[in-house]
Amino acid sequence: MTHNVIQEQIAYYSARSSEYDEWFYRLGRYDRGKEINQRWFDEVAVVKSALSQIGEVEHILEHILELACGTGIWTQELLNISKKITALDASQEVIEINRRKLDAAKVEYRQVDLFSWEPDAEYDLVFFSFWLSHVPPKLVDSFLAKVYQSVRTGGQVFIIDSRFDPTSTAKNHILKNDGGIYIKRKLNDDQEFTIVKIFYQPEELCEKLRKVGFVADVNVTDNYFIYAKGIK
Ligand SMILES: C[S@@+](CC[C@H](N)C(=O)[O-])C[C@H]1O[C@@H](n2cnc3c(N)ncnc32)[C@H](O)[C@@H]1O
Repeated sequence: MTHNVIQEQIAYYSARSSEYDEWFYRLGRYDRGKEINQRWFDEVAVVKSALSQIGEVEHILEHILELACGTGIWTQELLNISKKITALDASQEVIEINRRKLDAAKVEYRQVDLFSWEPDAEYDLVFFSFWLSHVPPKLVDSFLAKVYQSVRTGGQVFIIDSRFDPTSTAKNHILKNDGGIYIKRKLNDDQEFTIVKIFYQPEELCEKLRKVGFVADVNVTDNYFIYAKGIK
């Protein structure tokens, strides 16, 4: 199942690439009305502020590695705090959208499946958003060990992911908090995919980061997001 779900996740995000941003900007099936949408955007602002502080403390970072970069929603934030970004994703469709949107010479893209990725450099910051929740539980520790290997001594990791909240997803997605690791996701044309989705508790994520060697600090926003910082 693991191999199949890994391929299905790549196929899902490739097929979803042109409609992906509707989720983040609360459009179409993700539009939950003014009040709930505003709650989402306010919490996004909290996370963006925490991320921008990394840049302020360390000044402009030399080189960031972004894993599962997607369509560039967070890559564009990383542009503000770094001189260079290496952005990896398994989906060429997604990478092309990111490249077109940002049109930034300082971003270098690589099409890489993170389950066969081998770290080959050390970065000031390794960043990934809404990716860890799609890593099958039995592969999480080895993935985080590779992340640790990719951070230079004194460098950092920054992770953003989802908290369990039924209004975070599309109106026609059913989100169950039943401890299962698979969920079904639909596209606008009703095509359906099965993917992994894990909702981490702060203590659990903190413990995992500490176990691989980071000095870690994990926070949540009121409803939607969990975000973690770790120093090597
Ligand atoms: C939920 S999206 C997050 C994208 C982006 N980080 C963001 O916050 O908008 C998950 C991303 O993981 C990518 N992905 C899925 N499976 C992958 C794999 N095995 N290796 C690398 N990237 C993968 C997808 O193409 C997609 O861009």
